[in-house]
Amino acid sequence: MQSRPTNKTVEAKRERSAGVGRERQEVARFESLVGELSAAMARVPADEVDREIESWLGKICRALDLDRSAVYERDSPDQPVRATHTWVRPNFPPFPKNYDPEKLIQRSTELVMSGKTLVFARPSDIPVENQDTRRFVEKYGPKASAAIPMWAGGRVIGAASFGKFRSPRKWPSELLDQLTMAVRLFSSAIERKQSEIAIRAVRSELRVASRRNVMSELVASLSHEINQPLGAILSNLGGVARLLTQGNPQPAMALEAVNSAIEDTKRTAEIVRRIRSMFKNQVEHKAPIGIGGLIGEVVKLTAGEASVRKIAVQIEVSPSGQRVIGDSIQLQQCVLNLVMNAFDAITEARSPRRDVVIKVAPEKIGWAGVSICDSGGGIDPAVAKRLFEPFVTTKTDGMGLGLLVTRSIVESHGGRIWASPNTDQGTTFTFTLPVAEKKRAVASRRIG
Ligand SMILES: Nc1ncnc2c1ncn2[C@@H]1O[C@H](COP(=O)(O)OP(=O)(O)O)[C@@H](O)[C@H]1O
Ligand SMILES: [Mg+2]
Repeated sequence: MQSRPTNKTVEAKRERSAGVGRERQEVARFESLVGELSAAMARVPADEVDREIESWLGKICRALDLDRSAVYERDSPDQPVRATHTWVRPNFPPFPKNYDPEKLIQRSTELVMSGKTLVFARPSDIPVENQDTRRFVEKYGPKASAAIPMWAGGRVIGAASFGKFRSPRKWPSELLDQLTMAVRLFSSAIERKQSEIAIRAVRSELRVASRRNVMSELVASLSHEINQPLGAILSNLGGVARLLTQGNPQPAMALEAVNSAIEDTKRTAEIVRRIRSMFKNQVEHKAPIGIGGLIGEVVKLTAGEASVRKIAVQIEVSPSGQRVIGDSIQLQQCVLNLVMNAFDAITEARSPRRDVVIKVAPEKIGWAGVSICDSGGGIDPAVAKRLFEPFVTTKTDGMGLGLLVTRSIVESHGGRIWASPNTDQGTTFTFTLPVAEKKRAVASRRIG
């Protein structure tokens, strides 16, 4: 005998297939929303990425009938995970105060940050062993949730969570795929924003460092030049004062005038002294640094300039010359000055060969040599002997301070700098830096 379906099972089947139809429609609608999201994220300027992400969290929640959503970020694995973008349906309770996912839902946070997507369609789906998430859900009430890791550059930099509080809901795999795609779009926009911020910060630090160095050089030469005449004025005036006291009709008045001139002069000298000591006390941060990485940073900073000028830049770092002692901001400034000079030389010479090679190789024992070799037209003999002097320039818009600043930084590191003509074409500027001592592995290894 064939069993006939009862009215009840027919109803259930019909409902199921209607449900599947609705799900498909929702996925299709959501897919086109993700398409719009992709276009929006490609267009948005770095400064507006955050605002844009928050508005899209809202759009996603409304499209999927969700109530709350957040993006979490972590700068590095030892840093805390914090909510950076949130959206809550109007009139819904806000996120718990001081919401800390690592404390409240430690296990789930760990899982997501290790790259797993966690979803539950109803609270009873949460595994029993995941106690804290169960407790959290009981207390704060999401009935369904999806937490998706946010990848960038091969690591998890955060996560995005989507929750429904009014009722449970299913997360069909096609929908999760689309949500994952949306989260990927967020992460690449965040990555772009962060790298833009980092580049901006380095640029402005370099600008400050360069201004500081230029200022200190200017003050140094200024004080040198001012101190000499000031010394002369001081001794001359002293002599006049003595003369005036010998048979002068109004010696008191003359003396007072001369004395006040002496005081003024002393005060001026004091000002100069103070300015000098202000710059002398500028703290440097000398530490072991990977010079190859530092050069790489500068090359990245100048990549735009290089491509506009159609110049190829190559870095060659020999393994033994990798770590030096220095102030990284100042050394970046040196490399930047030399690279920009190399670019200028190539542009000026209209040379068909347009390349700059930056090499790091051991110099004498304990020293590394950094050389910047260009295919420009070589150094103009008119300035060859005075390259490192202030205000020496052959460029119409040149300041003639770059090499002076570079030399003062190199020498403050104990190094030397020189220029030599290449055998074929162009110039090589080389400077030396002290190599960081290798940690003695035996001494630092403790048996315990
Ligand atoms: N790589 C180079 N090739 C040829 N000439 C150079 C190079 N680097 C520097 N010079 C010369 O040294 C001068 C001084 O350089 P610098 O102190 O950096 O000041 P600026 O770049 O403002 O002219 C330049 O004007 C140029 O004539
Ligand atoms: Mg220069």
